[in-house]
Amino acid sequence: MNNHNLFDLTDRIAIITGGGGLLASEHAIALNSFGAKVILTDNNIEKCNSAIAYLKDNNVAAIARFCDVTSKDSWEKLLDEVIKEYGKIDILINNAGFTNQSKSKNFDASFEDFPLEDWNAIMDVNLTGTFLGCQTIGKQMLLQGKGSIINISSLYGVVSPNHKIYPGTGIFQPVAYSVSKHGVISLTKYLATLWAEKGIKVNSITPGGIFNGHEGLFLERFKQLNPIGRMSEKTELQGAIVYLASDASSYVIGHNLIVDGGWTAW
Ligand SMILES: NC(=O)c1ccc[n+]([C@@H]2O[C@H](COP(=O)([O-])OP(=O)(O)OC[C@H]3O[C@@H](n4cnc5c(N)ncnc54)[C@H](O)[C@@H]3O)[C@@H](O)[C@H]2O)c1
Repeated sequence: MNNHNLFDLTDRIAIITGGGGLLASEHAIALNSFGAKVILTDNNIEKCNSAIAYLKDNNVAAIARFCDVTSKDSWEKLLDEVIKEYGKIDILINNAGFTNQSKSKNFDASFEDFPLEDWNAIMDVNLTGTFLGCQTIGKQMLLQGKGSIINISSLYGVVSPNHKIYPGTGIFQPVAYSVSKHGVISLTKYLATLWAEKGIKVNSITPGGIFNGHEGLFLERFKQLNPIGRMSEKTELQGAIVYLASDASSYVIGHNLIVDGGWTAW
C-alpha cells in the first residue's frame, strides 16, 4: 500500500449517532473529506437535519436517519435501511450522549439527591446505546469480515471530574455520566478482544473539554488545570476519527485514544 493512501476512506459507509450535536458534524467532515459516505442519525431528527444543512454549506454530503440508540428496534430499522441503500457498513461512531448540552431531566442534581430516573436515562443513552449499536451494526460487520467501531468516551471515563472546578459555574458533571463513560471504555476492550481476529476493530476516543462558548470562572479554572492551557476546538478530534476509522490503524485494537490537551498526563 502506498503510505499516502493509508487514511483513504473512499466509498466507506459510515454511521454516526448523536448526529444533531456539537461534535457529530465534525466527525462527518473528517470522514467525508477522506472519501466516506456519511449517515448522521439522531432521535431528534430536526437537529439532525440542521446538521445536514450545516454540512451542505461546508460542501459535505451526508444523509439524516432517525435512530434512538436506546431502542434495539430502532437500530434494526436503521440497519435495514442502510443495507438496502448501500449494501454494507464500514464505520460506526457511537457518539450519542446525554451531555451538558443534551441533558437528562435532572442532570444538574447533586450526587446525594441524584434521581434513579436520571441515572437510568444517562446509562441508557451513553452505555446501553453504545452496547446496542455495537451489537446490531457489529453483527453486520462480522458478516462482512471487516469494520471499524469507534466509541466516544470522555475525559471523565478515564479520571473523575475535578469536583473543585464546577461550583459557581452553572456546569455539572453527574455521577452517571462518569460511570457510563468508564463503561464505554470497558465495553470497547471487551469487544475489541472478542472480534480482533474477525476483522472488526473496536476502539474508543476520549475527548477532553470542547470549547462551546464557555466563559468566566469555569474557563479560567479549566485553562489553569490543563497542560495545553486551553479547551479543545471542536475540530480537534478529526485526526483521531480518521486514524481509527481508516486502515492506518489496522493493528490498533481496544485502544482508548485520549485527545485531552494533557489533562490526564499530570
Ligand atoms: N462536548 C464535549 O466537551 C465532550 C467532551 C467529552 C466527551 N464528549 C462526548 O462526545 C459525544 C458527543 O458530544 P457532543 O458535545 O456533540 O454532545 P451533544 O449533547 O451536543 O450531542 C449529543 C446528541 O446525542 C443525541 N441523543 C441524545 N439521546 C439520544 C438517543 N436516545 N438516541 C440518539 N441520539 C440521542 C442528542 O439529540 C444530541 O444531538 C458524547 O458522547 C459526549 O459525551 C463530549
